[in-house]
Amino acid sequence: MTGSPGAAISKKILRNLKAPSGSNDTSLDIFEDRFQCRETGEDFGFVDSVPSLYGTLDADGVDVTGRVKSFYEENPFPNYEGLEEFGQLVQKGSQNPFSADLLGAIGYNKTILECGCGTGQLSHFLQLNNNYVLGIDMSLSSLKLAEEHRQRNQLQRSAFIQMNIFDLAIKDNSFDVAISHGVLHHTYDAKKAFGHIVQKLKPGGIIMVGLYNSYARIPTWIRSKLINLLGPKIDYVVRNRIVDERKAEIWIKDQYFNPHETWHSVDEVLGWFEEFGVAFRNCSPAILGTSGEGAENLFAKTEPGNSYQRAITQMSWIGSIAREGALFDVIGEKAGPA
Ligand SMILES: C[S@@+](CC[C@H](N)C(=O)[O-])C[C@H]1O[C@@H](n2cnc3c(N)ncnc32)[C@H](O)[C@@H]1O
Repeated sequence: MTGSPGAAISKKILRNLKAPSGSNDTSLDIFEDRFQCRETGEDFGFVDSVPSLYGTLDADGVDVTGRVKSFYEENPFPNYEGLEEFGQLVQKGSQNPFSADLLGAIGYNKTILECGCGTGQLSHFLQLNNNYVLGIDMSLSSLKLAEEHRQRNQLQRSAFIQMNIFDLAIKDNSFDVAISHGVLHHTYDAKKAFGHIVQKLKPGGIIMVGLYNSYARIPTWIRSKLINLLGPKIDYVVRNRIVDERKAEIWIKDQYFNPHETWHSVDEVLGWFEEFGVAFRNCSPAILGTSGEGAENLFAKTEPGNSYQRAITQMSWIGSIAREGALFDVIGEKAGPA
């Protein structure tokens, strides 16, 4: 059942797939080494044993997408050191407030799409609670590590397919939950990418998007000007969290030498929500002075506050999330009946 990459894709996930650039009416069958479109008979072969539905690149984004892809082919993120066994990964995920709260908020029996899953650690963790997770990424070397972990630990509900967020081979309105954490700021158009992901979410489904914050990223930018002079220890995560050398090297490259990154504010994301029919649910870290501060869980219905509260909140992040990547997550609900 779990032995080959093709066998890993459960019916729950397979029925949500379509041919790259194909219409919502196309369906795929899966074989040992390829997908086949039921309607046209076209084959989509796996690449280096990784299931692949990677379509042609959007002309506008060829340059950025190509450079970012090469970067993550060379530096698969995050590194698996010390998490080879699923038990280790579960232990780490349960102790990490972000992933533990996320799993708690998602609950049970959900279909989850993780866009830009990297090496798939979060996808693997979220398949607990009988959730079915599809992790997509354009980096084959990252997906290979995800797939290796899946096979080594005989996991049955996390699956991985190479795709481009700008050409998702996924039917519209098909997943219960969509997550993209630390990804869209590495695309050529984060808002457009967000719109593509929302399309794949069922009405009433939950989306969580994690982005570099415009305020909190400033210290990283300053450190990026000094790091060649002062060395990697000026980074808080390297100083305090990472033991493994290769892991530290990849973290430093990801944070300070990335070929492309953009910065975003809460207000900007609220604008995307409005444009794509998503209602605000919550923000992490919470917006100061709002019910988000005492929210019972990550997906709780809270209010986004006013622009003054949001500005103060984001300034405060210079003293908090700025140390560890400056990522904030906004959670919303796609309009329509659940
Ligand atoms: C910083 S890593 C984040 C990985 C993971 N989400 C995490 O939080 O650890 C960014 C990932 O986004 C992927 N990515 C960037 N642009 C993409 C695109 N257009 N389509 C698919 N994946 C993309 C990269 O290949 C990389 O694995």
